[in-house]
Amino acid sequence: MNRRTDSREYFDKVAGRWDAMRQTYFSERVRDVALSEAEVQRGTLAADVGAGTGFVTTGLIRRGLKVLAIDESLPMLRVLRGKTAGIPDVCFCVGSAEHIPVRNCVVDYVFANMCLHHVAQPAAAVAEMARILVNQGTLIITDLDAHAFEFLVHERTDRWLGFNRADLRIWFVQAGLKDVAVRDTGERAHVPSDSGDKCADIGIFIAHGKK
Ligand SMILES: C[S@@+](CC[C@H](N)C(=O)[O-])C[C@H]1O[C@@H](n2cnc3c(N)ncnc32)[C@H](O)[C@@H]1O
Repeated sequence: MNRRTDSREYFDKVAGRWDAMRQTYFSERVRDVALSEAEVQRGTLAADVGAGTGFVTTGLIRRGLKVLAIDESLPMLRVLRGKTAGIPDVCFCVGSAEHIPVRNCVVDYVFANMCLHHVAQPAAAVAEMARILVNQGTLIITDLDAHAFEFLVHERTDRWLGFNRADLRIWFVQAGLKDVAVRDTGERAHVPSDSGDKCADIGIFIAHGKK
């Protein structure tokens, strides 16, 4: 079910704390799995949708890619801009995953880590990510498996209680992608409730497709 939440207000507020929060929620191995699965090549261009403070973006820069970091929260992008000051290989764009302000067929890779469960229309976002890929470009989405931790809606502004992997497969195919595969990363997200009496423990999937 799609919940109405104000994720922009939430991420604007937690921007300065997000990196510390993220480290307790999920590990850097999620990024390693995503970048390995994409077989990223130096000198190519990637978009990081819902880039936030740059968990994926900074990994891509380290591997020699140029990155377009897109997010609806300006404060999150400001943190990323501070981290990457003086690095020419990254540019920033405030925008929505459902209407990505980028021309068709320009990026070699699109990554979206933990963004999709905040998006009102995930199928439309997947279609947008596919639209900006060059032919043969690769889309990689890492996000939460379907779960029942309702407190994440009220406390973390999640719109979706994760996703069924079968839905990801359908959205990728509908977006015109081929070689679609959705599998387990082997990693889990652990997110405590504000009161500390609950802790969500959720599998993380990786969805892969080629244009
Ligand atoms: C859970 S954070 C993940 C940030 C980063 N990808 C990471 O792994 O640390 C979700 C990010 O998605 C962004 N976001 C949420 N909904 C969005 C949308 N519809 N369009 C663009 N960005 C969105 C938020 O502002 C936030 O920065």
